[in-house]
Amino acid sequence: MLIDSYDRVVDYIRVSVTERCNFRCTYCMPEKPFSWVPKENLLSFEELFEFMKVAIDEGVKKIRITGGEPLLREDLDKFIKMIYDYEPSIDLAMTTNAFLLKGSAQRLKDAGLKRLNVSIDSLKPEVAQQIAQKDVLANVLAGVNEALAVGLKVKVNMVPMKGVNDAEILDVLEYCKERDMSVRFIEYMENAHAVVDIKGMKSPELLALIGARYDYSDEGFDGHSPSHYYKTSEGYKFGIIEPYEDDFCKTCNRIRLTAEGNLIPCLYFDEAISISKSIKAGDIKGAAAVLKEVVKNKPEKNRWSEDDGEVSARAFYETGG
Ligand code: 5AD
Ligand code: SF4
Repeated sequence: MLIDSYDRVVDYIRVSVTERCNFRCTYCMPEKPFSWVPKENLLSFEELFEFMKVAIDEGVKKIRITGGEPLLREDLDKFIKMIYDYEPSIDLAMTTNAFLLKGSAQRLKDAGLKRLNVSIDSLKPEVAQQIAQKDVLANVLAGVNEALAVGLKVKVNMVPMKGVNDAEILDVLEYCKERDMSVRFIEYMENAHAVVDIKGMKSPELLALIGARYDYSDEGFDGHSPSHYYKTSEGYKFGIIEPYEDDFCKTCNRIRLTAEGNLIPCLYFDEAISISKSIKAGDIKGAAAVLKEVVKNKPEKNRWSEDDGEVSARAFYETGG
């Protein structure tokens, strides 16, 4: 079992298979990064899988595939199947922008994928286009419909931004409610790669808007999920992700691996240790030692709530949020 210095059990790894993305969401990657990671620096699926085996053998129970946009990487279903065949009980999920999902959902499900998280920041084509900097909505919604039709569980993420999509919070909630998908509103996390003048929304503002239409109760937290859950009086559960809250990191159970093989203990911080060398050399013991060291050095909490004007340098497109 992997346990950090604050007695948190780490049993969840998020694996980014590419930092490239076909969107340029203003809160994440407004312009193409100065340089993409050269293809030869990426770990192959076989190499990533070698490390997944190490992580599973050390007690990891949940794996989420992220990006950038993971569906940009060819043969992703084969990587999913490798993990599934090694340990079918793994909770195998993926975060995607859904643009390329139509036509691939069934294949992903057949490979062993269980769940998807998809971003829907707006249901208006022009607003979705303003956020992703590309005309994306029709493809995204078609992808979501197909995922639901093949029986994948889908959760929706929305990043509410003042003056951009704040008028659509209830619309997105309703869209999800009608389709039996859970929605999570994510407080915008400031980072050095986003458009500078984005104004995010905090939990009390979101709840005031939702409360104008629905009575809701506070359901608190559920296991290790970072969402604070609420339930409408009709029984629909929605979440708010509040990384600025002081106790946000208390139940954190996750670490992240980038497509180049950097193992990252916390989303906020820039530090990482590479597993690439050990994996490429077939040094499984060495890779396990790096994994244990990263877990041991996992920081107690992020610094989003600290009012010193510092902004996280970590790029979300490397770590899949
Ligand atoms: N703040 C909040 N959420 C973000 N995401 C990406 N960048 C940010 C940010 N700066 C979210 C996306 C996506 C998930 C992977 O991370 O909405 O759903
Ligand atoms: Fe791409 Fe996701 Fe970043 Fe948007 S938030 S640019 S979809 S990686």
